[in-house]
Amino acid sequence: MLDRNTIEIIKSTVPVLEKHGQAITTRFYQMMFGNHPELLNIFNHANQKQGRQQKALAGTVYAAAQYIDNLEAILPVVKQIAHKHRSLGIKAEHYPIVGKHLLLAIKDVLGDAATDEIIDAWGKAYNVIADAFIGVEAEMYEEASSQQGGWDGFRNFIVDRKVKESDVITSFYLKPEDNKEIAHFLPGQYISIKLEIQGEEFTHIRQYSLSDVPGKDYYRISVKREAGTANPDGMVSNYLHNTVTEGEILKVSAPAGDFVLDTEKNTPVVLLSGGVGLTPMLSMLKTVVEVQPERNVTFIHAAANGNVHALRGEVDSLSALDNVNSFFFYDSPTEEDRQNHGFDVEGYVTQDWLVNNIPTLDADFYFCGPVPFMKSINTSLKNLGVAKERIHYEFFGPKGSLEESVKEEPVSV
Ligand SMILES: Cc1cc2nc3c(=O)[nH]c(=O)nc-3n(C[C@H](O)[C@H](O)[C@H](O)COP(=O)(O)OP(=O)(O)OC[C@H]3O[C@@H](n4cnc5c(N)ncnc54)[C@H](O)[C@@H]3O)c2cc1C
Ligand code: HEM
Repeated sequence: MLDRNTIEIIKSTVPVLEKHGQAITTRFYQMMFGNHPELLNIFNHANQKQGRQQKALAGTVYAAAQYIDNLEAILPVVKQIAHKHRSLGIKAEHYPIVGKHLLLAIKDVLGDAATDEIIDAWGKAYNVIADAFIGVEAEMYEEASSQQGGWDGFRNFIVDRKVKESDVITSFYLKPEDNKEIAHFLPGQYISIKLEIQGEEFTHIRQYSLSDVPGKDYYRISVKREAGTANPDGMVSNYLHNTVTEGEILKVSAPAGDFVLDTEKNTPVVLLSGGVGLTPMLSMLKTVVEVQPERNVTFIHAAANGNVHALRGEVDSLSALDNVNSFFFYDSPTEEDRQNHGFDVEGYVTQDWLVNNIPTLDADFYFCGPVPFMKSINTSLKNLGVAKERIHYEFFGPKGSLEESVKEEPVSV
């Protein structure tokens, strides 16, 4: 436990560090990758270029420091990050490296203002926060490898089938190379895929939500090809689309993530997705149908048009069931979409539409999609008085904020 004086110093210097947040974190990564280039095997280079993960890691250290005398209060946040860390293979021995470079960066940016006393206090605080993560992650590693069909780190899976689902989304059915059992997962969870691409100096790891139901002898992921317009094309998604063929081996982590459908509950459930954000939602929809056939479920999916609308057949085939309602929103329907009456609503999912069309607001809401979509849904649900505990969402990137007014993306604890 930290002494009162250290806690006082930490709490009073958090605003200073936050003020210099961008400069400190930029310096932190420069120095850390300079001294430990091997860490570029686990960090996402595109997130680095866009500064997204930079804000996430250091921002969370500062936010956690404010709760330094009551870390229990932020345990859910620690767990959510720890799931991601576990799927990436972050180990206890990595923490001192991060701690050392964070302190060096603070000192470097703040200069004389960072007295020995302040640096010492932050060193102690970082260790307390790191211990909290290491403890939670140790339990997760144990659980991932000791569960039935589980494993440690990355396991070889064969691409059993590769199926085009739309102009931009392709599914990969993955079976373990050793033909043994695979771990169960909860609908909404993801796996990490680690690619070793010929000619690339580092490995590249990305997360993909499991888009089918648990209990099969394969995992299915459905991947959107991320075309860069002004920027380089997405590394992993393009490699999967363009280069990986059936029969090839991919390295896969055990399933992880806390964005999961609670099948203990019987409340109506509303699943909202935009674009490729439909992958965890589809797994949830199919799970409700399979294990909770009495539970009312509304599936709302927004896509630009029929050309990019993936996995539609799977949703259509369930829509006839009494407990399932589905709605498709296209914001740029094609002529063909209009002729085929291939969608329900033209435009975006709005608050007015929700209030007038979903069976009840007394439901659990799960959503995933592009950040503007998620912000809009989150605001609508809050305006409609849906309780925070009933709003669940997943970011397909480092966790950010959904508050409309927040331009940056500080991590809220
Ligand atoms: C929990 C979770 C679940 C996910 N589930 C899915 C899923 O089911 N399906 C799915 O398709 N995706 C999913 N994702 C997203 C996925 O992990 C990848 O982020 C996505 O496939 C893009 O990876 P990439 O390697 O192709 O692109 P990256 O190489 O990571 O690039 C990402 C973006 O940055 C741009 N970029 C690249 N380099 C630069 C640069 N130098 N400067 C500026 N911009 C640059 C690229 O054009 C691209 O738009 C999920 C993510 C998370 C966190
Ligand atoms: C107390 C220390 C740490 C904190 C507070 C922290 C915080 C975070 C946060 C908030 C995220 C984003 C999670 C998300 O929303 O998806 C993240 C991701 C990540 N963290 Fe940590 N982290 C810590 C330590 C570490 C260490 C020691 C390593 C390894 C050296 C590490 C490597 C990563 C990587 C690789 C990602 C994913 C980044 C990406 O995709 O670009 N973290 N961490």
